[in-house]
Amino acid sequence: MNQEECLQLSNQLLKGDFEIPKESDAELLATQLRSVINFHDQIYYVQSNSIITDYEYDQLFAWLKLIESNYPEFITPNSPTQKVANGLNNDFQTVTHLKPMMSLENSYNAEDLADFEKRITDAIATRNTIQYTVEPKYDGSSIALVYENDIFVRAATRGNGNEGDEITQNAKSIKSIPLKANFSQFGIRKIEVRGEVIINSANFELLLNERNELNKSLKLAGKKTLELFKNPRNTAAGALRMKDPKEVAARKLDAIIYNIGYMEDMDGKEFSHPAFQSQYGNMDKLHDLGFKTPEAERGKFETIEAAAAFCLSWENQRASFPIEIDGMVVKVDDILQQTIIGKTTHHPKWAIAYKFKAQQAFSVLLKIDYQVGRTGAITPVAKIDPVQLAGVEISSISLHNEEFITEKNILLGDTVIIERAGDVIPYIAGALFEKRNGTEIKIQFPSTCPSCNHHLVKPIEESIWRCINPNCPAQLEERLIHFGSKNCMEITGLGEEIVRKFVAEKIIQNFTDIFDLDYEKIRKLEGWKDKSVENLKQSISQAKQQPLWRLIAALGIRHVGTNTAKQLEKQVQKLQDLQDWEIEKLTELEDIGPKVAQSIFEFFNDEENIQLLNKLEELGVNLSNISSSLKLSALLEGKTFLFTGTLNKMSRDDAKELVEKHGGKNLSGISANLHFLIAGEKAGGKLTKAQKIPSIQIIDEDTFLNMIKD
Ligand code: IVH
Repeated sequence: MNQEECLQLSNQLLKGDFEIPKESDAELLATQLRSVINFHDQIYYVQSNSIITDYEYDQLFAWLKLIESNYPEFITPNSPTQKVANGLNNDFQTVTHLKPMMSLENSYNAEDLADFEKRITDAIATRNTIQYTVEPKYDGSSIALVYENDIFVRAATRGNGNEGDEITQNAKSIKSIPLKANFSQFGIRKIEVRGEVIINSANFELLLNERNELNKSLKLAGKKTLELFKNPRNTAAGALRMKDPKEVAARKLDAIIYNIGYMEDMDGKEFSHPAFQSQYGNMDKLHDLGFKTPEAERGKFETIEAAAAFCLSWENQRASFPIEIDGMVVKVDDILQQTIIGKTTHHPKWAIAYKFKAQQAFSVLLKIDYQVGRTGAITPVAKIDPVQLAGVEISSISLHNEEFITEKNILLGDTVIIERAGDVIPYIAGALFEKRNGTEIKIQFPSTCPSCNHHLVKPIEESIWRCINPNCPAQLEERLIHFGSKNCMEITGLGEEIVRKFVAEKIIQNFTDIFDLDYEKIRKLEGWKDKSVENLKQSISQAKQQPLWRLIAALGIRHVGTNTAKQLEKQVQKLQDLQDWEIEKLTELEDIGPKVAQSIFEFFNDEENIQLLNKLEELGVNLSNISSSLKLSALLEGKTFLFTGTLNKMSRDDAKELVEKHGGKNLSGISANLHFLIAGEKAGGKLTKAQKIPSIQIIDEDTFLNMIKD
């Protein structure tokens, strides 16, 4: 069936009734549905496009499933319903590749590429006729796919190059790997294509968000959180070896094909097909057959200089490409020439990787600052002579903890190498030992707090030194910043800089001072006018009416974040009620483990803390659970919501409050746990992400408001 026929059939099927057909019609209908679903998959996963809604797609899919469950005799192994296999236990078998999967030789600059050209022209002595195809070097996990009689029969990882793990079931959950491809039209009976399994940046971000959400709830339950995904490459490689193909499907992998490893004619003889004689052209053909291949990101060139220029231009724009690439691959385009040029035991001589430089900068380590966090954790921070790296000026970089410094053997005065890990957070990769001249000094981690001089402690199993003085001024300052911050009391007029200034001027020294400010003193400070003082007054007075959970979170009780705070709020009429709670009772609460319970218990059993709460109450701060009495309905019970774009009828905060007052829960990011995305005007990235998850219902503001109308 061609595209047009598929489209027509799709429309026709969507117009029909989704009923179980009679046995005589079932097989034909199932075949039609399969073709139509494969057609939409191809558009979605290979062309990254879509011509029907997710809802319609799901309907077609559900219909096919329905027919197959009623007439199992008509299930075919390549039906799209078989793509995500049903949790089979994969014990990976070792398989031998049809031809060894070789490595690539590396090059780092235009000169290296010129040398490469010299080597190959020496080999074939026809300089003018060589063309080069240049493709990105995708930074994922390599894979070899075997098709026999047009059917996808085997997938294997690279392994040691000769043998790899057989991961066919997992590969079947990757939508951009077609289960069937029409190679027989070329007289090819068996073929092995090779490529890279990757996760694109948007999907990687989605996965990270999902994992963060999951970890939040695990944390609340006092359970061990899962490791965060380090980078797309590790995540893709890990996914291919997972036991449950359903989990593999959840990782949203893609396979990009860039090479043909082996082919066989109809008589089972290895051959090189006359129509597959150019790297560039071969990729076009594989793309037409349903594979994802390098597209706009590749090029074909007449000279090595032009190929080198293309590599360089990609080095400069790699950050904006949605797939991680760590270089480019320059290949002699003509397959016959490739054969003549040949290979070593390790790599083909007709191809070379052009590796991008790690984004690096060098600077001198001037001094170390020791920052005290709100929980007393001491973090060493390197102050360096400011340098530019990937468009940003860097002057200060975290050194994490004492161990990090010793492991890297960094000294004060060293010239250090700065890299951007994941192109986001600057990181000290090490010191240039050869630049040392004897004046460098060993870094002495302090034994006392840089702010209050109290001695530091470090439990044996931890790597962080802490100041345990509850009155440490530095911790106090951080706690005050936390108190007014967005997820806590949300005092808009009391941002970080203002808190620091007020602490320095001794205008605030503890939480209660915030609600008893000397506005005359503030008015006299530089930069303050009547208007700004008035704004501050107003935002503080509003903060007094914040719901109780905000105050609970603002107090900075160890291990108590906003979710636990909301959980605690539900348990009390007044915050001081928690004085009577034993650890056991706290642990019984959903999402509260022993560590969190202990910390809450200690807080409410400290007389000073109770006095603080009473004082706050006297100053007019709300300590009662007013929201419990304001619950409007349970219409949204058990449902999760996220708002995006501009809302017209209410503010984002009001909308979220409505969700809670009707028993629903707000989520902060798109994940499979989300039930409803309310998309306002100009909705952007979140909407696009949500559209890719069929279980999320995307609704507008009015539909949302209708949901809570009784
Ligand atoms: S061609 C004989 N093309 O890089 C080798 N490889 O360091 C033929 N890779 O194992 C490989 N992108 O996993 C080729 N466009 C591309 C590639 C690519 C990534 C990987 C591949 C290979 C490794 C070599």
